[in-house]
Amino acid sequence: GNGFPLERSAGKKVFLIGGGIGIPPMLELARELPASTEKQIIVGYRDDQLFLKEDLEENGTVYIATEDGSVGTKGNVLDAIREQNLTADVIYACGPTPMLRAIKEYAAEKGIKCYISLEEKMACGIGACLACVCQSKDVDHHSNVHNKRICKDGPVFLAEEVEL
Ligand code: FES
Repeated sequence: GNGFPLERSAGKKVFLIGGGIGIPPMLELARELPASTEKQIIVGYRDDQLFLKEDLEENGTVYIATEDGSVGTKGNVLDAIREQNLTADVIYACGPTPMLRAIKEYAAEKGIKCYISLEEKMACGIGACLACVCQSKDVDHHSNVHNKRICKDGPVFLAEEVEL
């Protein structure tokens, strides 16, 4: 599979957005990004079990949203972004599909380049089970359909290229 494109972010302001199981990949990405990147890490948790919070704080400025409102912004990651009036040149995101769908919409509305990781949907990871197929905009040259296998073609896609 591929990874998030790092070279696009040198000297830029980025959002690293992680929800639930999408948080660990964002920590990894924050560690890999160039030092010249301004890293705004927006993470969504269910409650005050803020796993990886200290590690995230070592690698960027952290903004927290919780579903139950116990820490940070009550609501989701986009609520936190709006509440804090944050802006970015590039978005990287990983998490549950409804969250990614909302972020894709937000990025389109704001005209921000947005990369999302769909690894949540993977099963076999080697291209055999087709459990990870998602709808894409362009036609697959091999099968001639609007499909991509996340484990082979992804897991990272430009948000505008995939249907969620
Ligand atoms: Fe099985 Fe992609 S995870 S084909």
